[in-house]
Amino acid sequence: MKGIILAGGLGTRLYPLTYATNKHLLPVYNSPMIFYPIRTLVSAGIREILIVISGPYAGHFIRVLKNGKELGVKHLEYAYQEKPDGGIADALSQAEDFADKGPITVILGDNTTDADIAPEVSKFKQGATIFLKRIKNKEQIRRFGVAVFDAKNPEIITDIEEKPKTAKSEFAATGLYIYDSKVFAYVRSCRPSDRGEIEITDVNNLYIKNKTLKWVELKGFWSDAGTFETLYLTNVYWANKGGI
Ligand code: G1P
Repeated sequence: MKGIILAGGLGTRLYPLTYATNKHLLPVYNSPMIFYPIRTLVSAGIREILIVISGPYAGHFIRVLKNGKELGVKHLEYAYQEKPDGGIADALSQAEDFADKGPITVILGDNTTDADIAPEVSKFKQGATIFLKRIKNKEQIRRFGVAVFDAKNPEIITDIEEKPKTAKSEFAATGLYIYDSKVFAYVRSCRPSDRGEIEITDVNNLYIKNKTLKWVELKGFWSDAGTFETLYLTNVYWANKGGI
């Protein structure tokens, strides 16, 4: 299993913090944000990693991560996304050659978690496995993709709604996914959404349509760090834990 970290974008929701560097290099307690998703992958035994970067500060990543050896990465590659505002799925499409028709674990560079994903990584055979997090606050959950479950069988997700007006469940899609090689064809068949991005939610909905999407509830802490509030809360959590 190879790993892919999506760390592009302009981080506009964090202006002015991201005027001078990329969001994923901002501090989360004692480490740059991107150390956390790298640690999640390495702890699950994934040591061949591609980081998709974009935007004016793409070069900063090499200064911080070098060849990744200090973080336990055996092979670190970078891919450059031409359109920094192309969205998550467009960033993922840069990883097709690296994936080389094998399965991939994908994590968004601003997602931090202390959950162990090793069991799902080693169990994975085909289709997609997505990780959901229960968020009881009805306002907070609307910022995410939200799962809709089959009324008769709550094991089955019938749809994921991206940033819905009203959430139909308490389960948010985190930025952590395991995909088989079909993912790249699915990305190609998606069209930009109203916010002008190729949405990862549309890709996951194609797996749902083909009845090949499984889900797992992420245990432990999970947060993205893409807004002032979540960046602050993420810092508080990891500071209390003593960082990584
Ligand atoms: C993205 C995804 C969303 C997911 C979230 C997790 O949102 O589109 O489905 O719930 O990441 O961090 P974005 O950060 O692009 O708003």
